[in-house]
Amino acid sequence: MTDFDTVDYFTDPALVPDPYPYYDYLRAKHPIVREPNYGVLAVTGYEEADKVLRDADGNFSSCIAVGGPFPPLPFQPVGDDITDQIAEHRTELPMYEHMVTMDPPDHTHARSLLSRLLTPARLKENEEFMWRLADRQLDEFVAAGSAEFVAEYAKPFSLLVIADLLGVPEEDHDEFRTVLGADRPGARIGALDKEHVSANPLEFLDEKFSAYISDRRADPRDDVLTQLALAKYPDGSTPEVVDVVRTATFVFGAGQETTAKLLAASLRVFGDQPEIQQALRADRSLIPAFVEETLRLHAPVKSSFRLAKRTTTIGDTPVPAGSLVMVLPGAANRDPERFENPHEFRIDRRNFREHIAFGRGPHTCPGSPLARVEGRVSLERILDRMLDITIDEDKHGPADARRYNFEPTFILRGLTDLHIRFTPGPAH
Ligand code: HEM
Repeated sequence: MTDFDTVDYFTDPALVPDPYPYYDYLRAKHPIVREPNYGVLAVTGYEEADKVLRDADGNFSSCIAVGGPFPPLPFQPVGDDITDQIAEHRTELPMYEHMVTMDPPDHTHARSLLSRLLTPARLKENEEFMWRLADRQLDEFVAAGSAEFVAEYAKPFSLLVIADLLGVPEEDHDEFRTVLGADRPGARIGALDKEHVSANPLEFLDEKFSAYISDRRADPRDDVLTQLALAKYPDGSTPEVVDVVRTATFVFGAGQETTAKLLAASLRVFGDQPEIQQALRADRSLIPAFVEETLRLHAPVKSSFRLAKRTTTIGDTPVPAGSLVMVLPGAANRDPERFENPHEFRIDRRNFREHIAFGRGPHTCPGSPLARVEGRVSLERILDRMLDITIDEDKHGPADARRYNFEPTFILRGLTDLHIRFTPGPAH
């Protein structure tokens, strides 16, 4: 039995399969609790999480958004305002060059490039690609009547949607799929196959996008990469190639694994709660609500970190400058003060849209419309083409004693693999 008083949330594998009792335990003590091992302020209350993420008073920096307490801060915070210290040491922090760790005005500047790309017209074209891709992906395994859904659908689908969004030519898609390891069981960004053992996925993306962007700047064409290459900042200046490349590579990192986890969680709900699968089969208009309730209960992003720039308070909790604050969307989304019977999947929940799986405030996920469409399109085609979806009991155990494996990380929550069985449905 794990001792919640002393457990190390960041390293103890005991909390990986089911962190929710721990979140409840923390919240029952107080919606903001200092965890004992690193002194991080864990935010499990909905109101409090919302306040930190919105950061209306500019008291919190995103400079540690991704790594939290790892590595430790490269400086010792001094006084009630550490804004200058953050500025001085920013480039020593992990991922400082990506928008997720930036603060205004640099953040606003970096994010503006992405919004040039996520236009309604581009999203519409991207959705058209998704419908084709969903069927193509299903064609690969549906006839077999069984699949490892994460590797055979969720990962390659979410990877190729981003590739299309960014305008990667279709003839390069196979290379992306192979190098970024999206189609092997248990593969993650970072896992490489033999053919590309020497390649580093980030280097691969850097090289590919540097070449695409330089090429399109020299020789503009009528394609999305040209739009990306020629996009300007709102002040009319042209970004360096490296800044465009960073935007593109970050979007791969942020948009693939997260959406793959949402898709896998959805199929797990289908298998574990057949009555919900049936409800969706009977009424497809429930799909958007289903996606939101899945995001609420199975938030793919487990923690977002902030550093208190100035001494402040969250609710009644004093927060000294230099405090590491950990917002836990999965905990806020199950706060009983906000959501009735929070651990239950309720497709008719009145306020499911209030979940914070996509964050809040200035860093709110810009990919959320895309992720939602990925969910809707995939589930529509899956319900059509895979009838009576069940969990493979040989792999995951019987309904009353399931065994699932989750990625062992404190940043993301999602299944490593999901073995399912089904009856093949009509092709198209
Ligand atoms: C279910 C899928 C997804 C979930 C749960 C999710 C969740 C999140 C969350 C919680 C944040 C905020 C992090 C913070 O406040 O520190 C975020 C940021 C971000 N997401 Fe997503 N995301 C998803 C899909 C996507 C997709 C498909 C894209 C690609 C277009 C994307 C691109 C980004 C980017 C670029 C950021 C950084 C925004 C910024 O710092 O201003 N995400 N995401």
